[in-house]
Amino acid sequence: MAADATGETPEPGTRGDCEPAGLVCASCGTVTGVRNGIPRFATLADEGQTQVQGTFAYKWKRTPEWGITGATAEIMTGWVMATLGWKDEAAYAAALKPARLILDAGCGNGRETIRLARLNPEALVIGLDISEAVDEAARNAAGLPNIGFVQADLCAAPLARGVFDQILSFGVLHHTPDTRRAFLALVPLLSRQGEFTFYVYRKKAPLREFSDDYLRSAIRAMTPADAWDEMTRLTLFGKALADLKAEIEVPAIPTLGIMAGRHDVQRLLYYTVIKCYWRDGWSLEENTHINFDWFYPQYAWRHTSEEVRSWIREAGLSERSASESPAALTFRVGR
Ligand SMILES: C[S@@+](CC[C@H](N)C(=O)[O-])C[C@H]1O[C@@H](n2cnc3c(N)ncnc32)[C@H](O)[C@@H]1O
Repeated sequence: MAADATGETPEPGTRGDCEPAGLVCASCGTVTGVRNGIPRFATLADEGQTQVQGTFAYKWKRTPEWGITGATAEIMTGWVMATLGWKDEAAYAAALKPARLILDAGCGNGRETIRLARLNPEALVIGLDISEAVDEAARNAAGLPNIGFVQADLCAAPLARGVFDQILSFGVLHHTPDTRRAFLALVPLLSRQGEFTFYVYRKKAPLREFSDDYLRSAIRAMTPADAWDEMTRLTLFGKALADLKAEIEVPAIPTLGIMAGRHDVQRLLYYTVIKCYWRDGWSLEENTHINFDWFYPQYAWRHTSEEVRSWIREAGLSERSASESPAALTFRVGR
C-alpha cells in the first residue's frame, strides 16, 4: 500500500494508472483516501445508513469528549464495566491481557477504543467507524501509541480475517440496515481463540416501542440542529418528571409491560411509555446527547434475546456470558 501524499480524498473505488492519492489495496487495486492520517473506506450502503452516518458525525462533533472527560466519564466507566460483566477495569484488563489485536467496531468518539488501548498496552487496538467520529476519536486518543483508526462500514470492513483476538461492538450493530447481517459480517475477523462482545438494544414494552418509532420517524425530516432542539425539550420533560422525585405503587399490567410494585414515576414512564432520559449531575447538553442518540438515527433496531441467540448459533459460536437489562442485551461469544 502506498501512503497518501496529498491529503486529498479520492473517490472511493476509483482506479487509474496515475500515482494514487491514498492507499491501494494489494489484492483488488481499490484506491482509498487518507485524511488526517486516517484511511477512509466509507461506503454509503443506503439512504438509512447515510442518515445514520450523518447523525453520528453531528453528535460526536457536538459532544466530542462525552463519556471521556468530566461527570459523564465517571458514570460511563462504572456502567460499561457492569454492562460488560466485569467487576472493574482491573478484571477487564486481566481478560484482555492475552489479546494482541483488538477491534472496536463502531468506535464513535473512541471512548472504549481508548479504554481497550489503556488496559492492554501490549495490544494494537483499531477503532473503526462509518462516520467522521473517527476524527474526534483520533483527537481524544492523541498520545496513545497502540491505537489506530479507520473510517469504514463494519459490514464490509477492510480488515484481515481471522486475526482479531477481541472484537467489541458496543451499541452499534442495531444502527446498520440489518443487525444480524452486521453481526455475521464481523465474525470472520475473529482469530481462532477470539472473543466477540456486543451490545444491542432490547425490545421494549409496546407503548414504548410505538413512541420510539413514532418520534424517530417524526424527527427524521428535521435538520440535526432542529432535532437536537426537539430532543432538548424532551430532555427537559424527563427532568421535570425526575424532579418530582415521586414513586407510585402500581399493579402489573402485562399487556403494557408494566410490572407490579413501587416505581419512580420518571423511570416507569421511561421504560413503558416514552424514553425521556434525565440524569442529575449531567448538564442539559450531556443529557440531551442520550435522547438525540436514541431518536435521531434512522436505524435503531430492537431485539429479543431469542433472536440474538439464533444469530450466535448461526455463526457457529458459543456463549461465554450474557446480560440483559431493560434497555439492552450484551453477549460475549467465541468459537
Ligand atoms: C451509539 S454510537 C456508539 C459508539 C461507541 N461504540 C460507544 O460505545 O460510545 C454508534 C456508532 O456506530 C457507528 N456506526 C453505525 N453504523 C455503522 C457501520 N455500518 N459501520 C461502522 N460504524 C457504524 C456510528 O457512526 C456511531 O459512531
